[in-house]
Amino acid sequence: MSDPKKLFIKTYGCQMNVYDSERMAESLGGKGYVTTDKPDDADMILLNTCHIREKAAEKIYSELGRLKGFKAENPNLKIGVAGCVAQAEGAEIMKRQPMVDLVVGPQSYHRLPQMEDALARGETALDTDFPEDDKFETLKSRPKAKRGPTAFLTVQEGCDKFCAFCVVPYTRGAEVSRPASRIIREAQELVEAGVREITLLGQNVNAYHGHDGGLAGLIWDLDKVDGLERIRFTTSHPNDMDDALIDAHGTCDKLMPYLHLPVQSGSDKVLKAMNRKHTREQYFKLIERIRAARPDLLLSGDFIVGFPGETEADFEDTMDLVRTVGYGQAYSFKYSTRPGTPAAERAQVDEDVKLERLHRLQALLSEQQYEIQKSMIGRTVKVLFEKHGRETGQMIGKSEYLHAVFADTSDVSIGDIRDVRIVKSERNSLGGEIV
Ligand code: 5AD
Ligand code: SF4
Repeated sequence: MSDPKKLFIKTYGCQMNVYDSERMAESLGGKGYVTTDKPDDADMILLNTCHIREKAAEKIYSELGRLKGFKAENPNLKIGVAGCVAQAEGAEIMKRQPMVDLVVGPQSYHRLPQMEDALARGETALDTDFPEDDKFETLKSRPKAKRGPTAFLTVQEGCDKFCAFCVVPYTRGAEVSRPASRIIREAQELVEAGVREITLLGQNVNAYHGHDGGLAGLIWDLDKVDGLERIRFTTSHPNDMDDALIDAHGTCDKLMPYLHLPVQSGSDKVLKAMNRKHTREQYFKLIERIRAARPDLLLSGDFIVGFPGETEADFEDTMDLVRTVGYGQAYSFKYSTRPGTPAAERAQVDEDVKLERLHRLQALLSEQQYEIQKSMIGRTVKVLFEKHGRETGQMIGKSEYLHAVFADTSDVSIGDIRDVRIVKSERNSLGGEIV
């Protein structure tokens, strides 16, 4: 038998790309590829890309520039671009970087084996279709090989919301939900391979409609999977938080008390201009209902500053919303114009104003995050241990609230869930003792 070919995948962007990279590797596994973590060893390098902000997209071109050297040393090396930049730019990528052999979009990567055949014949391959055939039907079952205790599982893809700043409806396409039965089967396969915590993924995950009971119905079905201990989901839109899902946060023990619920802005005027279709007051009411169901739930959010038309008063509304709600975790970004989206055409806020607002917002968010972390000191949390730490004897895991927790462990194995009493808080992690 010939030596296996080596595949190096570099993943950018969101968790769905992490999931997609795994599935692409599995799909090319059928063509004799095994993954490597050394690019200079590889027969194929795939960049799984992100198009959400300009910086993310530009990174790809500088990385491709760097890869030119690899190709000069190894002319047989194949270079591919996958993901949302591939979808958005298609053949343009090959024009800008002619050494790229393959461009594949997020909805057509189940066709990678055939594309690889074309590469083997010395051709290039481009596929950015939104095909009728569902990639999940074509992809192989998940491998049985042992894996770590946490995994992502895509349940829904695409978005019909068309927020005025966002490329996702164009790069990932319309909302599609996978049938619940397939998701349950995939979850069982993951659990058989050692997974104890699954994060359900979707660009609009709480709009999931592959189950009569929506996302809550799916969560309750997953609740019955033996060996699966924890369920999370991300990313949600406030308008799709239905009663059943809020209720599940209070009643489903496997559903973790953490919710990523982006609001983007605290100003009604900006929310309207963003096409978010809710007001700040409606968001506050929603948070109240969620916290009534699960008082200790830790909230996380995304914020955009400097959206076209955002004044200082609008920005102050965002600061005020953050102070009122209190976030345990948050991601904040300067608005970035994305070609083809409605807001790209509007009068833009100055770059230095955006930057100054971003700094103010990030200072507030990081202070909040730190305060909430410190409030965990003295509490006992359940930690799912995921890996060994840098210090010998230490392991790192995640609490229910998704805080990274370090602890000295002697009789603990990866995959164990143990009670840990929190004794200290660093900037981005907690330290604890096994009880
Ligand atoms: N500019 C800045 N941030 C953006 N996001 C999406 N599109 C843009 C953009 N054009 C942010 C939103 C979203 C997160 C994934 O990325 O906050 O929730
Ligand atoms: Fe983009 Fe999310 Fe808005 Fe959809 S709901 S357009 S993915 S920000």
